Amino acid sequence: MRKKIVAGNWKMNKTFSEAEMLLEEIAELLTDDLLSKATVVVCPPSLYLELADDIAAENGFYTGAQNLSDKESGAYTGEISAAMIKSIGVDYVIIGHSERRTYYHETDELLKEKVLQALKHELTPVFCCGEVLDQRNQSIHFDVVKKQLEIALFDLSPEEFSKIVIAYEPVWAIGTGVNATPAQAQEMHTYIRKLIADRYNKEIADETTILYGGSCNEKNAPELFSQPDVDGGLIGGASLKAESFIGIIKAI
Ligand code: 13P
Repeated sequence: MRKKIVAGNWKMNKTFSEAEMLLEEIAELLTDDLLSKATVVVCPPSLYLELADDIAAENGFYTGAQNLSDKESGAYTGEISAAMIKSIGVDYVIIGHSERRTYYHETDELLKEKVLQALKHELTPVFCCGEVLDQRNQSIHFDVVKKQLEIALFDLSPEEFSKIVIAYEPVWAIGTGVNATPAQAQEMHTYIRKLIADRYNKEIADETTILYGGSCNEKNAPELFSQPDVDGGLIGGASLKAESFIGIIKAI
């Protein structure tokens, strides 16, 4: 179902006590009015998910993991499975973030397996896609995103695909302070919706939640979120302070 979502991806930041403080601050500032407008998801490092989920459950928001294993269980040192994540009450999982693609060499073929694991254990995948600057400069950004979606997602059945949230995160906008313009975001989101309509159908395309991520902040969020095909945001840096994260949620 298409929803307005604002999700905070904390990446590899915060000690335990800092995480606890930030979660309490977010809980404090989230009003019923805000929670009625947007689904709020916090994605801390996995180590803090249990704590985060306890606080989230009491305060009307949700949690997500930043990654999961493509394997079910077994001898995979250091990995965390979908079943483990689900077993502590978490609802979402980020899959295919560009930092995992770049630094941990995750391919769309691997991401496809991760998506299947997430769906099997009833976690909602937040599937990230997006081009690097060179690809945009060469005007192949649409093709790049198309290929990412085709390989990782488009073998899913219509029923399975309906459970996916997509996050368009142009890599050149992540952590750079240079966000995609609202027009650039809208253009890509429309394109993604058309790809979904072509592969599945218009109803599924219209019901898919597509988030924007990349240097989204309190200032640019109102215009980005006012685009008809932008259903919210996946927020990095600005989700590390309660005031700015809440400020972005207010822009929905
Ligand atoms: P920034 O908001 O810090 O650019 O990060 C975006 C992001 O990567 C969210 O997943």
